[in-house]
Amino acid sequence: MRKLKLKLGIHSYEIVVGWNLLQQLARLLDEAGLRHEIVIITNPVIERLYGDALNQNLIHEGFKLSTLLVPDGEAQKTLAAAEQLYQKLADLRVERSTPILAVGGGVIGDLAGFVAATYMRGLPLVQIPTTLLAQVDSSVGGKVAVDSATIKNKIGAFYQPKLVATDIATLQTLPAVEFSNGLAEVIKYAVIIDKFFFTYLEENMEKLRARDESCLEEVIFRSVKIKAGIVEKDEKDTGLRNILNFGHTIGHAVESASDFKIRHGEAVALGMLAAGKMSLKLGLFNEEELNRMKVLIQMAELPARMPDLSFAQVLQALTHDKKIHNGRIRFVLPKSIGEAFISDEVSLSLVEEVLSNWNE
Ligand code: NAD
Ligand code: GLY
Repeated sequence: MRKLKLKLGIHSYEIVVGWNLLQQLARLLDEAGLRHEIVIITNPVIERLYGDALNQNLIHEGFKLSTLLVPDGEAQKTLAAAEQLYQKLADLRVERSTPILAVGGGVIGDLAGFVAATYMRGLPLVQIPTTLLAQVDSSVGGKVAVDSATIKNKIGAFYQPKLVATDIATLQTLPAVEFSNGLAEVIKYAVIIDKFFFTYLEENMEKLRARDESCLEEVIFRSVKIKAGIVEKDEKDTGLRNILNFGHTIGHAVESASDFKIRHGEAVALGMLAAGKMSLKLGLFNEEELNRMKVLIQMAELPARMPDLSFAQVLQALTHDKKIHNGRIRFVLPKSIGEAFISDEVSLSLVEEVLSNWNE
């Protein structure tokens, strides 16, 4: 088991990464000073796989728990779903000190986190991420949100958890496509900030995809450490934290143009390559490193070719989504593997050029 403290003054918290933590949760909650009456928010997929493990440990150790189920899927990350949860919390007569345990992927983490942030102006939150994406990214850093029909992820808050308990063993049941989805964010960290991590990924991607235990632990812990380091410096995303959006500018446009049929990680992989190509055209990045990125993305079973989307659809989604200043959109560009920067130098015509020549 490895531990890391994310230091944010009185909002500091511990991130614990290890195996079979669900079976040790009672002790971890005790150590975090959380009370013994808790509410678990999860979905039926997770409940079926891990409900028994959670219940056995917690009930055996004297916890009183209620479990609230939300149907599976991104479509549940709404104010309507939050409202149903508020009502159930009221029915349970929860108090302001009752911890909410968000057990699941990023959808549950964001929704349950949003509910914890807002119900009674804030209940203690524990993130228990069960997808690779949630373990390396969404459970850390305190961004919680819901979507509306046309606005994704913008109705939210910065609300730090009291504890993140990352049980790597839960990844054993994660479908391969979801695993690759999370690998996109792992590759992102390596490109923006850590060239040695990138080399580690190149050397170990095959083992990682086979979910080799020591490799998984290393990759999750290193990713969490990178993200925590960035959040500590810029919790409210006013500067440095923006670099975590590497691959997300084009990525979000691809997701939205495909009507969310292309997964987030797949779209981010394409977005990272697009940013690499733009940086190359601006003379700020080199072809060999762009190619290394492409090879690693393909090794992670993520796409390097643009799927069946016209560049015009992507461009339209991009210009609809992003603020354009003087014909320019803000991008995070790689300078070299291990170093990225925020740029306002990308013109719409450069974006068009890269997107229209994508698969050539
Ligand atoms: P998800 O939560 O929908 O999970 C993907 C699928 O895997 C679901 O069907 C889920 O039920 C299933 N699943 C989860 N754990 C499992 C396990 N251990 N075994 C088997 N199946 C399992 O998707 P996600 O990719 O984890 O998260 C995506 C969401 O995260 C998006 O809403 C995105 O906006 C959000 N996000 C938030 C942040 C943040 O900082 N808050 C960062 C990145 C992404
Ligand atoms: N996932 C981006 C962030 O947490 O800032």
